[in-house]
Amino acid sequence: MCGIVGYVGKHSCAEILLGTLEKLEYRGYDSAGIAVFDHDNIEVRKAQGRLKNLRERMEKDGVPSGVAGIGHTRWATHGEPSDINSHPHNGGNVTIVHNGIIENYKEIKNFLIGKGRHFVSQTDTEVAAQLLDYYYNGDPIEAIVETMHNVRGSFALGIMFKDFPGTVFAVRKESPLIVGIGAEESFIASDVTAILNYTRDYYLLEPNEIAVLSPYGTNIYDLHYNKLSKPLMHADWDENAAEKQGYAHFMLKEIHEQPEAVKTTIRSRITDGLPDLEECGITLEMLRGFRNIHVVACGTAMHAGLVGKYIIEELARVPVNVDIASEFRYRDPLVTKDDLVIIISQSGETADSLAALRLSKELGAKTLAIVNAKGSSIAREADMLIYTLAGPEIAVASTKAYMVQISVMYLLAFSIALANGAINEDKCRELTAELVKMPERIEKAVQLEENSQYAASTLVNAESLLYIGRGLDYALSMEGSLKLKEISYIHSESYAAGELKHGTISLITEGMPAIAVVTQKRLVEKTVSNMKEMKARGAYVIAVCAEGISIESDAADYIISLDECPDILAPMTAVVPLQLIAYYTSVLKGNDVDKPRNLAKSVTVE
Ligand code: M6R
Repeated sequence: MCGIVGYVGKHSCAEILLGTLEKLEYRGYDSAGIAVFDHDNIEVRKAQGRLKNLRERMEKDGVPSGVAGIGHTRWATHGEPSDINSHPHNGGNVTIVHNGIIENYKEIKNFLIGKGRHFVSQTDTEVAAQLLDYYYNGDPIEAIVETMHNVRGSFALGIMFKDFPGTVFAVRKESPLIVGIGAEESFIASDVTAILNYTRDYYLLEPNEIAVLSPYGTNIYDLHYNKLSKPLMHADWDENAAEKQGYAHFMLKEIHEQPEAVKTTIRSRITDGLPDLEECGITLEMLRGFRNIHVVACGTAMHAGLVGKYIIEELARVPVNVDIASEFRYRDPLVTKDDLVIIISQSGETADSLAALRLSKELGAKTLAIVNAKGSSIAREADMLIYTLAGPEIAVASTKAYMVQISVMYLLAFSIALANGAINEDKCRELTAELVKMPERIEKAVQLEENSQYAASTLVNAESLLYIGRGLDYALSMEGSLKLKEISYIHSESYAAGELKHGTISLITEGMPAIAVVTQKRLVEKTVSNMKEMKARGAYVIAVCAEGISIESDAADYIISLDECPDILAPMTAVVPLQLIAYYTSVLKGNDVDKPRNLAKSVTVE
């Protein structure tokens, strides 16, 4: 999704804006631009494509010199990626950058055209710029307030008024924006990772708050012009966490960080060998007696929810529905006040997941969020909150966030089962002890990197492939398939192994690769016979299985064997080769692993 940055300080800001935009590259973008106050003028440079194109444009057209400005990486929503549609956009006295969507932009555009205004781009952003200018009568705040009353949607804006050189304004409705406070300098940014090199102190801008960053200080107002006093937040993320530190890609680094991320996430939530969520303000009493549990999320986070369904149902015997947030929110879901709704999100800002959370609250359910990004909207709005402690995840393809999300699902499943009396304390202790051993086992799975690399080399020319599994292995194969699709661009499907014969097996032709996940001992025979059926029809079968599971040569061509662990915890190790296979396939294809085409890290629009 689009990224916004802004700077007001004592230093020439063009390079600072570019540097902070680089930190937002991971969000996904197709064009970039900056606007800088060069004395009394606002100088704009923008270009379609990567930031290097913008740098080239600046070499050609000159680097604006000035100490205040705004910058943007665009992920096209209204209008194709092009120089013209890139931000910043101008509307007379006003220059803006924008993240999100102005829903009623057509009606505003028609209104402004009726007032004799002309538009040069196809964007909703230019409409917002022109509307701000239309309301501008010498008072920027008044223009912003009036605009906020007349636009609908979910968005954030960075704004410069020509008559106020050196000052940057910012406002948001839904889309996140923070205001960073450094020594004699201040920033705006879509997320805190952008500014970690300069400061860790920041304000979270709430919806309908207006930030004014000027050489004389930074102030935040509400829409009634009241000056607000807000708590200053501090990011405890290590600035190196957002650097590659010698790894070829963030994705590879994040795969390697998984053992540590799990350790950090579970360590403080276990007391005397039992799960203990009290540091998150969650007692066993609060988890007791729900009639249904709904897990609602998108993409990889939804796949973590699927693992949760299997384990909560198995251990706690409570029915769990897993829903895609964009479906849930429009389906008039059967959620009541006796239900628990768990929202899982790395970013905590995914528009559909946030809407699902709000709907669940309206329906009277208790809500619990599992979120990685501190202070994000989902984290703030849920009734109960468990942070996953993975540090920043930069690669668009989520790996360590999934791993910590399922770690929390285990802690929750154990706790709910204990709270409901479905397992006793001894059983809970036994499961928790096994969970504590998982970081070591995950580390061993990461060490199988070469095996995954080899498996990837057998897939690289495939046009399509299948992932199969049963039970938890099926949940996992969905994640494996998504990972491969999003970064290798190879089409793949994941199927419940037993479903193959009901249609999909007709896709198999000579040499077509298939990946079978086989970790659930009681289901091995069943899955192995499906593998044999595929192999007999020409498929090249790669098996990802747990140690001790023997797979004959008529069932698989290549086997990646993982360390022994209890079946219920196997997703934590088995996902690693699936991640690495996707990673190396993407590398071998020469793709941009961390920034796959068309994708954004945080999907803050519907
Ligand atoms: O920030 P969230 O966890 O809410 O994001 C949900 C999905 O957009 C995300 O998991 C997406 O599917 C990833 N690109 C998958 O790798």
